[in-house]
Amino acid sequence: MGFSTDAIHVGQEPDPSTGSIVPPIYQTSTYVQEELGKNKGYDYARTAHPNRRGLERCVAKLEGGRAAFVFSSGMAGIDAVFRLLRPGDHVIVSQAVYGGVFRLATQLLAHFGLDFSFVDTSCLENVAKAIQASTKMIYVETPTNPTMIITDIAGVAKLAAERKLTLVVDNTFLSPYFQQPLALGAHIVVHSMTKYLNGHSDAVGGAVILARQEDTERIYFLQRSAGSGLAPMDCFLVARGIKTLAVRMAQHNTNGMAIARYLEAHPKVKRVLYPGLPSHPQHEIAQRQQRGFGAMLCFDLDGLEAARRLLNSVKLCSLAESLGGVETLISLPALMTHASMPPAVRQQIGITEGLVRLSVGLEDAEDLIADLDQALAKV
Ligand SMILES: Cc1ncc(COP(=O)(O)O)c(C=O)c1O
Repeated sequence: MGFSTDAIHVGQEPDPSTGSIVPPIYQTSTYVQEELGKNKGYDYARTAHPNRRGLERCVAKLEGGRAAFVFSSGMAGIDAVFRLLRPGDHVIVSQAVYGGVFRLATQLLAHFGLDFSFVDTSCLENVAKAIQASTKMIYVETPTNPTMIITDIAGVAKLAAERKLTLVVDNTFLSPYFQQPLALGAHIVVHSMTKYLNGHSDAVGGAVILARQEDTERIYFLQRSAGSGLAPMDCFLVARGIKTLAVRMAQHNTNGMAIARYLEAHPKVKRVLYPGLPSHPQHEIAQRQQRGFGAMLCFDLDGLEAARRLLNSVKLCSLAESLGGVETLISLPALMTHASMPPAVRQQIGITEGLVRLSVGLEDAEDLIADLDQALAKV
């Protein structure tokens, strides 16, 4: 079946007892057993529940995985993936990774004996050089949040295969509609489902999709032991959002390209980073490994005051963290999503105080351009 058919039907079969075309929300903590040791497949909602199982089947199918597990947030899923490791293990992480992952690694997991190196994974030579005897995992975010740096997934997968390392890819920015890392050789895909998979800015969730049986068993063990699985109502919301993923992503892509072109031509914008523009440093890799460019972009203004003026002048774009929803969000990563990164690290990866991030929504592109135009006029 095609992508849209799978997104609408897999794991979302009508309820057999009533015919309800939408699976009901199983808002229950426990399941009555028919007799001691005999149940209908569920015993306690931390361990599993029908809404979670349905959504997990759908997400696994869309990413081409053997299995998927959905978590209370993207960070909860990413935390479970790092817990596949043991004290003393070394991980190579994309240098310009989402600030929350940087914080989890450096301020929490480092205290449990994991060792992290932050490397520009867009350069395969750098990745190869960073591999140590204790390296067990390479964790790549592509494109990175917010700097839109792209890593050649197949290239890193080849290195990982040669050195028997686990390759994890955060596919949040593109969704499986535009990029399928497992098909390019990754072993694990992670998502903040809060973003494009749900797409409506009304739920927080994460997903971990696995290619290998041994990882599948361990991630399920971690999910049920730590109690980090996604609750029924949130599974319902994300499952509903996923049904329109294909049409949303196609329109996000059209709008993203229109806004990127507009900004690139604007005299007050110093630079635009959008993988769909030929000026993007990894435009060719993006064309090769992605089916589309999405709707995330960032651009440089002349310092913090210029950025502040823009953010305070927009009317249609909303000043907010997060991304991937139907409404356009604008933010200043240095003071918002990436505030937990030390300033020196931010500087190194290009998150200046004049760097503005846009998550282009599904409004009419002309309206968004008119809004940016009036706000840029005040800069
Ligand atoms: C690329 C990326 N990965 C992971 C996360 C974490 O996801 P969540 O906020 O759902 O915990 C985010 C959040 O912004 C993100 O942008």
